[in-house]
Amino acid sequence: MITKRQQEYLSSLAASDKVRVLFVCLGNICRSPAADGIMNAVVAAHGASHRWVIDSAGTGGWHVGQLPDKRMRIHARRRGYELDHICRQVKTADFERFDLIIAMDADNERNLRRMAPSPEDEEKIFCMADFIRCASRYDYIPDPYYEGAEGFELVLDLLESACEGLYASLSE
Ligand code: 4NP
Repeated sequence: MITKRQQEYLSSLAASDKVRVLFVCLGNICRSPAADGIMNAVVAAHGASHRWVIDSAGTGGWHVGQLPDKRMRIHARRRGYELDHICRQVKTADFERFDLIIAMDADNERNLRRMAPSPEDEEKIFCMADFIRCASRYDYIPDPYYEGAEGFELVLDLLESACEGLYASLSE
């Protein structure tokens, strides 16, 4: 749920020239690079690419330097998204570089809150599922890593909806 305070922060960002958003999951090879690719497509479709800086990172470092998971790349490509992000781990400096740091699940969110250098930086942390617009029983983006094809499709469905919701939240 988006709190009143979070809503106020989103409204202040909606009035700014630039929006810098970092998507964060555990491995940075499935959910967050997919969110990154989908969000790039959403802002391009709205003719707003110049306003948005979009990136992704993982709380864990096991896959640093790698392309996204092959299964996610295949499922995303079928929907027209080419995922070419190179995996990296989230770092403290990201709290300076980004206005919004959006966690895919509660574990990611907890880890980010621990990392935030200041209370002001902590207010940049949001939960991706809070932007989902479609009817959904998910209050997080489920980790597809140990799932089959339907797990990847579910993640893409949820992320497409959340990216549109995020775009709308930041557009006046
Ligand atoms: P992601 O998925 O957090 O959506 O990128 C995962 C990728 C790798 C692992 C776990 C989750 N892993 O344990 O290596």
